[in-house]
Amino acid sequence: MLSVLKCIDCGHEYPINDVVYTCEKCGGLLDVIHDLDTLKRTVSCSTFDARLGALDAPYNSGVWRYKELIYPEIAPDYIVSRPEGNTNLYRTPRLAAWAGVNTLYCKHEGENPTGSFKDRGMTGGLTQARSLGMTRVACASTGNTSASLAAYAAFAGIEGIVFFQDKQVALGKLSQAVAYGATCVQVAADFDRNMELVRQIGQDLGIYVLNSVNPFRLEGQKAIVFEIVQQLRWQAPDWIVCPGGNLGNSSAFGKALYELRALGFIDRMPRLAIIQAEGASPLYHSFIRGLDRLVPVKAETIATAIKIGNPVNYSKAARALRWTDGVVEQVTDNEIMDAKAVIDAQGIGCEPASACSLAGTRKLVETGVIKPNEVVVAVLTGHLLKDPDATIGYHRNALEGIEAAFPNRVYQAEPSVEAIAAIIAQTQPLVAR
Ligand code: F0G
Repeated sequence: MLSVLKCIDCGHEYPINDVVYTCEKCGGLLDVIHDLDTLKRTVSCSTFDARLGALDAPYNSGVWRYKELIYPEIAPDYIVSRPEGNTNLYRTPRLAAWAGVNTLYCKHEGENPTGSFKDRGMTGGLTQARSLGMTRVACASTGNTSASLAAYAAFAGIEGIVFFQDKQVALGKLSQAVAYGATCVQVAADFDRNMELVRQIGQDLGIYVLNSVNPFRLEGQKAIVFEIVQQLRWQAPDWIVCPGGNLGNSSAFGKALYELRALGFIDRMPRLAIIQAEGASPLYHSFIRGLDRLVPVKAETIATAIKIGNPVNYSKAARALRWTDGVVEQVTDNEIMDAKAVIDAQGIGCEPASACSLAGTRKLVETGVIKPNEVVVAVLTGHLLKDPDATIGYHRNALEGIEAAFPNRVYQAEPSVEAIAAIIAQTQPLVAR
């Protein structure tokens, strides 16, 4: 059986090559559904272990290594790959101690080609765009999606069009989209309005939309979980913790875990913990009401990547929480920035939104939800260099409403050995603090 698109609400199916993002019958989100019965017979852990270290496309990619679970029938010639994935899973004892658990791993998705997990989704999305013969692709973005779309579109020789909100776009991200040659439009509206606009414009002008409402994006992002589990030698961790904005990643993780379990790759379900910024936490509020419905909010947070008040993937994320007995937590901007400083000071580093994973883990340990002996994987979604203003602002203690607990000040010195020696004599290395 070929893969199909299937509505998660009413079950209506569409051929895999239909240009459709939500169900034409009921408006529900669509899944790419694979034939799991056939896959059960045809792939195993050793299929994917044998491809580790592959030098050639497509299996040199940390997404396409799992091609059978991502897009089995796509011809390799269509695949647009940088290649992405193959990111490190760091064992981080000092971060574990800070969060209050014995074993914490950080899966660093900032190590992707454009510095965020979006590349995993974009390889899926651009591959489908090429297979459909699309000449233009577009997205609304808080920054990372646009950087990734711009790079992958350029790489594929397709026009990329990106919509930014008019303010608060992290400089690293904006500069990437400009440099990669995308058509960049700053729209005088927030992300949520831009999201509506891109969907409308996609439909009106026949431009392929590559936000995470596109199910091929999420198929690629499933590979984050596949890789985590493979790096743990096919053992499931107890928890996977990730930030939640538009909720594409959370949705992809849920589907990945569901499929791994159905195929027998793991023998128990890890629990998903989705962490939102307090000023942008509609999923959290829905969760504490029993996941009744999404009530959109006007979003505000220093973690601009997740400054989203009306996440398009809400219903898939709710499903992921049900499948995995998952939880949702919210953290303050101050908690996010302090957790970021702690991650950065390990020599690992991440952008603000990513630090939700550690701040949220610490909070869930404090509230007794995560037990100290449970194995936690925290997903770091973006690279430290994405948002230099936030980092420098924190260490100067110059961010409004944030009291930096771990500032690393920059000293000014006269050009003499004595002056510099005097500074070195009074400093305490950050790692010892
Ligand atoms: N972390 C980073 C670094 C992000 O860029 C994003 C989303 C998220 C977390 C949240 O992931 O949306 O799947 O829940 N950034 C999007 C963008 C929205 O446009 O770059 P999500």
